[in-house]
Amino acid sequence: MSRKRNSIVLVLLLFAYGAFSQANVSGVQLIRSHDFPQLLINGTPFLILGGELGNSSASSMGYLSPRLKHLQQMHLNTILVPVYWELMESEENKFDFSLVDSIIAAARKHELKIVFLWFGTWKNSMSCYTPLWMKTNNKRFPRTLDSAARSQEIFSVFGTATLEADKKAFAALMRHIKEIDVVDKTVLMMQVENEIGMLPTAREVSKTADIFFNSKVPSQLMDYLQKNKNSLVPEFKERWEKQNFKQGDTWKNTFGEGVLTDEIFQAWYYAKYTNDVALAGKKEYNIPMYVNAALPRPGKLPGQYPSAGPLPQVMDVWQAGAPVLNMLAPDFYNPNTKYWCDLYTRNNNTLFIPEMQFDKTCAAKAFFIIGHYKALGFSPFSIESENDAAIPLSKSYGVLQQLTPLIVNKQWLNMDGFLLDKQNRNSTVKMGRYNLSVSHEATLSWSLEARDLVWSTTGGIVLQTSPDEFLIGGSGIVITFENSDKDLVTNIAAADEVSYENGKEIKGRRMNGDQDHQGRHVRFSIGEWGIQKVKLYNSLATIEN
Ligand code: DGJ
Repeated sequence: MSRKRNSIVLVLLLFAYGAFSQANVSGVQLIRSHDFPQLLINGTPFLILGGELGNSSASSMGYLSPRLKHLQQMHLNTILVPVYWELMESEENKFDFSLVDSIIAAARKHELKIVFLWFGTWKNSMSCYTPLWMKTNNKRFPRTLDSAARSQEIFSVFGTATLEADKKAFAALMRHIKEIDVVDKTVLMMQVENEIGMLPTAREVSKTADIFFNSKVPSQLMDYLQKNKNSLVPEFKERWEKQNFKQGDTWKNTFGEGVLTDEIFQAWYYAKYTNDVALAGKKEYNIPMYVNAALPRPGKLPGQYPSAGPLPQVMDVWQAGAPVLNMLAPDFYNPNTKYWCDLYTRNNNTLFIPEMQFDKTCAAKAFFIIGHYKALGFSPFSIESENDAAIPLSKSYGVLQQLTPLIVNKQWLNMDGFLLDKQNRNSTVKMGRYNLSVSHEATLSWSLEARDLVWSTTGGIVLQTSPDEFLIGGSGIVITFENSDKDLVTNIAAADEVSYENGKEIKGRRMNGDQDHQGRHVRFSIGEWGIQKVKLYNSLATIEN
């Protein structure tokens, strides 16, 4: 064989091996392919259409079991479920996994996947889920102090026995999950701790904490900052820059004096602690793990909100201190979805929303977050509660479930998502040679909401599947198309209602006449959900008659 032929064969073999090994990846993995994050189960991409259970709902199967069927009917494919340390290890070193087992079995019965939330050392700043044998031994498991220097039910991040106990329990949990789930892979990911955050001061104040605070910033953090100097988030970089990018000095001298530096300090030790817990777990069973953050209200300073959690201003510190974690995730109980999602997609952070206040806006936000941010998934909080937001959400999830194979297998040239209300009523995006203008349905004079004081929050997702074809799903939106070449006029060749069953396309109505405003736009009315396949055609703008 010639040398040239030899190398062709080698290239083909390597290619075949690459394709083969990709198809055979086993386990649950989080990858980024062409900057598109994907959660893979045995190599098959999965989109989380989720919901998080209320805090106490998974402590009793009698309470939880009857509610799961409804979640499946709402087109959820995943539930986010707490694992309570106090119930799992009520006696030191004696682990009881019966609740975990029952939850996994019940989820399987309803074809639901699970993201477990480890309610370990911290849950919303507090340590309320730690076992009583820890809570009652303040010497072995030191607590933090409040502003009157009285001990509070928040364990100190500097408690070495606390960390060891958490690592041991979490490792035992992961070992057990592996034992019972490595084949089925019902459990997709783990959230390590829950909304870590220091209160009521920005950092711990104690003899131990002060010794660390007055020492040099650890070289692990400084090396990371130096290496990533050009890509640090601007608000963090600015603090360091003001101190002339100081190295080898104390926290105060490196980042300046004040609560913002206190927060950086505390964030570093929270990140290290969480990393150690996650690492202990991953050594037993390596599936993706993340931490979640309580977002602060505007204008509040560290300490006035649970500070030093995985928040945008300290995301570099968390990424440096907790490289074992796959993501930093925001919990939403405020309306500024775009603002915070933009912050959380910096530094290559994959977006996943473990908690979103469960109201009627969730139905539109699911489209926006998945379509625009290519998020791994979406999950309103207290999903099992009686809530009139359940129907709209289930309709959006129904649409997203049908589109999932196309979304996750990246069968699109461009994808985007839209979130509209009265204040943000229009949005534009360029896809290929077309400019799409997406508007709230109430911008149409004949819309039933047009004259209302408040408009519903609406949204949709658009996938450009070929140069002139689009798949659009959503509710309460109107889309028009324009060719970026001004010499051409773009019109709708066909807008067909479609649905997908097991990946097979089923054609519905041809949406012409009133439904597409006699060819002028594609529309999904408020209160109606669906998918339309839109084909465009172009003609010359000027015609000589
Ligand atoms: C955020 C927390 O992470 C949840 O566990 C829950 O406490 C909600 N806040 C509010 O109910």
